[in-house]
Amino acid sequence: MSDKIKVFVLLGLLFLFFGYSFYLYKLNYSPENSATALADKGKKLWQAKNCGACHQIYGLGGYLGPDLTNIYSTRSKEHIKAFLHTGTNIMPAFNLNDSEVSQIVAYLKSIDATGIAAPSRLKIKNDGSIER
Ligand code: HEC
Repeated sequence: MSDKIKVFVLLGLLFLFFGYSFYLYKLNYSPENSATALADKGKKLWQAKNCGACHQIYGLGGYLGPDLTNIYSTRSKEHIKAFLHTGTNIMPAFNLNDSEVSQIVAYLKSIDATGIAAPSRLKIKNDGSIER
């Protein structure tokens, strides 16, 4: 292969590499609204509002309210939002605005994706391993 062709191929590959990298970087890239950024904000709110005083995550926390690890999949987004907007006799309403509520929902969604809190919902197989 002549040197000219090698340089040509190299330049072509470099162009494709940088072009595709740039394309991927720009694709839907908005750190402010990405799911993890929302969930991070939700986690900070969770801590600031001290939800953990009454609720558990992975079984850790206060026991006045229920464990919320899997609330996202066992109930619904709307259910969570309703509780946050209105509160109950026992749970205070926190006067969160819509974006704060969706941050908490994003946090609870990310928690839900990480595992199952109640060991009673796990099935132990005959060989001792665990099945979901
Ligand atoms: C003072 C204690 C207390 C605090 C603080 C509290 N909660 Fe609650 N929460 C409860 C109780 C108790 C319930 C169960 C409903 C009831 O009996 O009133 C509940 C229910 C819920 C539910 C519905 C659970 C289900 O199984 O249906 C969600 C979701 C929830 N809380 C989210 C939150 C979030 C998020 C925060 C923080 C912003 C928070 N709670 C702070 C006491 C609390």
